[in-house]
Amino acid sequence: AGPVRSEVEDAPATCGGSIDTNHSGYSGTGFCNGDNAVGAAVQFTVDASSSGTATLEVRFANGGTAARPADVIVNGSTAQAASFEPTGSWATWAVKSLSVQVTSGSNTIRFSPTTSDGLPNVDYLDF
Ligand code: GCU
Ligand code: CA
Repeated sequence: AGPVRSEVEDAPATCGGSIDTNHSGYSGTGFCNGDNAVGAAVQFTVDASSSGTATLEVRFANGGTAARPADVIVNGSTAQAASFEPTGSWATWAVKSLSVQVTSGSNTIRFSPTTSDGLPNVDYLDF
C-alpha cells in the first residue's frame, strides 16, 4: 500500500490558525494558514505498523522571501529542526521529506515554528 494522507483540515489534525482556501493548488478542502507566531503549530496523528525510521512528506507553500524554520516534535519530544524554503508564491506547493523515529501504533507529528513568521501554509502529511 502507498502512504496514508492526512489532510490538515481533517481531524484529528490540528491547525494553529485558520483553514483557508484562498490560494489554489491545495489537496482536499483547504490548507492551514498558521498564525504568524512562534509556536503556532500544526499537528498530525499517524499510525505506524512498526517502530523505527519512517519517512514522512509534508506539502507546504511559502510565498514569503525567507525560509520558515520549525521544530519537528514526535510524540511530544523535539526530534529535529526543519526549514521550509520559499516556494515562489502561496499557490506554489512543494513537498518536504523527513525521516523520523516512530513507535508502533499511533504517533503525533507536530510542526512548531520557531520564528515570528510562523509556519508556511501546510496542506497535508503523507506517512
Ligand atoms: C499571506 C498569505 C497567507 C500566509 C501569510 C503568511 O497573508 O495570504 O496564506 O499564511 O501571508 O505570511 O503566513
Ligand atoms: Ca500564515
